Amino acid sequence: MGYEPAGLEIFLTRLAFLLYGKSVYQAFAERLPLEGGEQVLDFGCGMGTVAYYVAKKLNHGHLTCLDISGRWLNACRKTLRSYGNVIFLQGESSLLTNESFDVAYCHFVLHDISESELERVIPALVKSLKLGGVLVFREPLDDTKKIGVIKRLMKENGLLLKDSRITDIPIMGNALESIYIKL
Ligand SMILES: C[S@@+](CC[C@H](N)C(=O)[O-])C[C@H]1O[C@@H](n2cnc3c(N)ncnc32)[C@H](O)[C@@H]1O
Repeated sequence: MGYEPAGLEIFLTRLAFLLYGKSVYQAFAERLPLEGGEQVLDFGCGMGTVAYYVAKKLNHGHLTCLDISGRWLNACRKTLRSYGNVIFLQGESSLLTNESFDVAYCHFVLHDISESELERVIPALVKSLKLGGVLVFREPLDDTKKIGVIKRLMKENGLLLKDSRITDIPIMGNALESIYIKL
């Protein structure tokens, strides 16, 4: 089940985006393996905090922003209103079509999803990647059980871990950032 944010939550997120956009979201976007022509998925885009910086980099590619929440997706439409290379999708991972993306990323999304739902979401994300495609996530480190589940599902679905790092994010604390490749 999705949930719809209160207006205050959207306002506070927009404020955090204004204050920490560069150090938190742009820094993550800069590390994604992008050259500019890729088909990219932002899974759980929220108000488009990371998408704002990724869309800028895709001068001949496309970004798909997917979120289960209509209110977050509307906020994302506003954030990205000046970009013509973005597709907005409201719904679940079952909407994703196979072998569509070169890069998919989840930024502070997977830890919010129950283990039973992750059992559906992660295979759908992997199927939506082209061969050689890359899946990147950044999730808070404090929920070690959920991190364990995510790592297990990545492996069980045939992804190879390429790189991993711990980042200390202003206000949000330590997070695990991992890059997986579909072989
Ligand atoms: C904590 S917010 C992060 C938003 C954004 N990625 C960021 O870092 O600012 C989590 C987002 O994931 C979305 N979400 C949660 N479960 C989802 C699911 N099963 N499918 C798609 N989106 C989901 C929520 O609606 C919310 O917008």
